[in-house]
Amino acid sequence: MCGIVGYYGPREPKEVILKGLKSLEYRGYDSAGVAILDHGHFKRVRAEGKLGNLENKLSGEKFDGRLGIGHTRWATHGRPSERNAHPHCVGGVSIVHNGIIENYAELRERLIAQGAIFESETDSELIAHLLSEEVKVQGDLLKSVLSVLPKLQGAYSVVAVWENQADTMVAFKNGPPLVLGVGKDEMFMASDIQAIMPYTKKVVFLEDNDVAWICGSEFKIVGRDGSERNPPLTEMEWSPEQVQKGGYQHYMLKEIFEQPRAVAAAISPHIQLDSQTVRLHQVGFSGAAPHELTRLNPESDWATTEKVFSEVDKVMIVACGTSYYAGMIGKYLIERLARVPVEIDIASEFRYRHPILDSKSLTIVISQSGETADTLAALRLVRAAGGKVLSICNVRNSSIDRESDGHLYMNAGAEIGVASTKAFTATMALIHVLAVAIAKVKGAISKDAEKIEVQALLAAPSHLDTVLAFEKFFAQAAEILKSVKGFLYMGRGAHYPIALEGALKLKELAYMHAEGYAAGEMKHGPLALIDEKMVIVMLAPSDELYDKTVSNLEEAKARGGKVISLGTGDNKRLKDLSDHYLALPEAPQVIYPLIETIPLQLLAYHVANSLGHDVDQPRNLAKSVTVE
Ligand code: M6R
Repeated sequence: MCGIVGYYGPREPKEVILKGLKSLEYRGYDSAGVAILDHGHFKRVRAEGKLGNLENKLSGEKFDGRLGIGHTRWATHGRPSERNAHPHCVGGVSIVHNGIIENYAELRERLIAQGAIFESETDSELIAHLLSEEVKVQGDLLKSVLSVLPKLQGAYSVVAVWENQADTMVAFKNGPPLVLGVGKDEMFMASDIQAIMPYTKKVVFLEDNDVAWICGSEFKIVGRDGSERNPPLTEMEWSPEQVQKGGYQHYMLKEIFEQPRAVAAAISPHIQLDSQTVRLHQVGFSGAAPHELTRLNPESDWATTEKVFSEVDKVMIVACGTSYYAGMIGKYLIERLARVPVEIDIASEFRYRHPILDSKSLTIVISQSGETADTLAALRLVRAAGGKVLSICNVRNSSIDRESDGHLYMNAGAEIGVASTKAFTATMALIHVLAVAIAKVKGAISKDAEKIEVQALLAAPSHLDTVLAFEKFFAQAAEILKSVKGFLYMGRGAHYPIALEGALKLKELAYMHAEGYAAGEMKHGPLALIDEKMVIVMLAPSDELYDKTVSNLEEAKARGGKVISLGTGDNKRLKDLSDHYLALPEAPQVIYPLIETIPLQLLAYHVANSLGHDVDQPRNLAKSVTVE
């Protein structure tokens, strides 16, 4: 995963790189480091752990050069340590790398046999060794990169510098993202535009196999064969987002509380309030790039979207983690409303299972970051087979957003906490709108039924607001909950994906054993786990499956489990069966998955917090998973 930054220009490279790394820390926080020119050589400073440790180490350091690179690491090869931190420097060449070199063992062995001495356990260091050998022969960094590239297998984005060319950076990629920023007399390279936008809005998104050569304030992009490419210089529309904690103890808590607004922002561009109807806005199937969507004519945009939907006879949804669970909700909604069959898959499975792809299926990929490697690979697979891809992303102009045929945006605002919260609920609401839109085009929904769905969605933000009040309950209950053996989250129908999501939140934040189960599956095995030390979280709002869910709760209760149940209003039956009963507000059935998500997020947040864990940056994880 990792975040990389490169800078050449008149500002203090240390300041630009540190600020850039700060905005990229979501990509990994196992270690960080910089290499900046000073008196003709790269001075390297590295620190294990979060960026703050590097900042402390750098506080008294001065550099007289104009060129530098920096890195924040999510460890793949080699444990998190200063020794394994980037940059890796060999013979005057310094590199930062994001990704995995798959043939590293073989290359490393060969280099060692030739006398190379490795100081780290990483796969990345060998790139510095290979380049340092090559610059001796070629006398030029770009030529050296072009000679080394054919030797590397795997996914990588790399920025390399060489002290003999003190105004030059060479960057190359195959997989993880890289963006070149073009300023006035200054140049930037970074994993994400966030690190560049404070300085310039002019960027070039590198494609796979591109090599970017920056020399002073000039640049060119060449292919692996050295031939020049002229990719477009994109002018970004960007205003810095509010990413402060706003008085909350953690970003995650702030993001949980932002959900009523995030859900409203996700659906409002697509809902016509006067007629209470749905019409998707700025989807761009006509070929507009994400940064051009605002210039679309709404009439022709909707007409092309209608055409795409009318030709679709199957929908596939592909995503990872929490986005995958939002996709599961999408399956329930699209099948129920539009009566179009939906297949759903985890991206890492989908890409290798030889899926049957044809031009009549629409693939929806979901990704908050828009950079998840497996989801991006799935998208490319579908497009290469001639299929259409509609992406649902939060980060605009991310790789997935840029490479999709159609685009929908979560509009959740920056999500900083590694555990996804508001992107999940925003996606569920947005995919509900999408399901209605497909249903309309397919003639599967009446005008009255459409209104009912729209009214339910419009009511969601205020119900989400109401359940935020459970904060107090979980803040108190966490003290007891943190010492139980484990958690089983259960639900039926559309509550089942929420059970999975609730369990994932607890696992990733509290590092406790938690499982999500379809309630009807309990007696096929997991019931054996239940004893008085096990907590059962039962999702049982009043809907057509309520009675069956309660029967499953009876079975679990009879085995001695401690029960927290979530139901509708003042429900005596659930209260009697539960150790704690949480009364959800009376609301349209179809939005209960949205509403019940918030208490589960609060549960995970408070248990993790009372265990003293770093809620925003849980161990071993990164916000953006750019390696497979
Ligand atoms: O950026 P994406 O939505 O593609 O990310 C997918 C998953 O990596 C992500 O949802 C992950 O599971 C979160 N840590 C869950 O909280």
